[in-house]
Amino acid sequence: MKNITIAIDGFSSTGKSTVAKQIAKHLGYVYVDSGAMYRAVTFYAMQHGFINNNHFDVEGLVASLKAITISFKFNKDVGFAEVYLNGTNIENDIRTLEVSSFVSKVAEISEVRQKLVEQQQQLGKNGGVVMDGRDIGTVVFPDAELKLFMTASAETRAERRYAELIERGETVTYEAVLKNVQERDYTDSNREDSPLTKAKDAIQIDNSNMSLQEQFNNILQLAKRTL
Ligand code: C5P
Repeated sequence: MKNITIAIDGFSSTGKSTVAKQIAKHLGYVYVDSGAMYRAVTFYAMQHGFINNNHFDVEGLVASLKAITISFKFNKDVGFAEVYLNGTNIENDIRTLEVSSFVSKVAEISEVRQKLVEQQQQLGKNGGVVMDGRDIGTVVFPDAELKLFMTASAETRAERRYAELIERGETVTYEAVLKNVQERDYTDSNREDSPLTKAKDAIQIDNSNMSLQEQFNNILQLAKRTL
């Protein structure tokens, strides 16, 4: 069996990572959450005072990029690899609405993208990988055997993300989550470096009315055709 590369791109909160994890598990592939890496850099920037509500020291953050080491470690209890920043597990810290509200600004910085794309290409160099993000099929793995582009209405996505955050115990409103989803869509799609866009050869999946099982079956079928 061939070890292919599956690139899953799309807007915020389209459920990419949930289905990507399941597909990777089923095929015995590695799953890489590239968004977690941008979130890790954002969390570092917040921790070190480079970013807060009224200021963003881009130069300071860029000068500190060498001090940032991101790694993934498989946690068998949850069934996927969790993200670590300089040796500390930050899987939960990076999922807050606060990190979400800054991450797209951090992801606009070319030096940040260069560092993370290099690591992503390294992580997937042997194939047998499912990676989700915004530029995986266009920039990170332009030759990926299977490229998917996930969409759903902003309201559907905000509802899903809102439920997730409430489940985690965050105090958020649906309106704030919807605003964040829309703002990230805009910033991610309009940035200069590697904007979110559907690769020409990507298959678009609108999952607004699809169950997780339907998405899984659909993607697995597409993957099997290329195996
Ligand atoms: O996938 P997730 O929503 O966790 O990604 C968080 C943010 O990281 C995105 O809104 C985007 O700004 C950035 N990102 C990116 N390129 C990727 C993955 C994520 O710019 N490949």
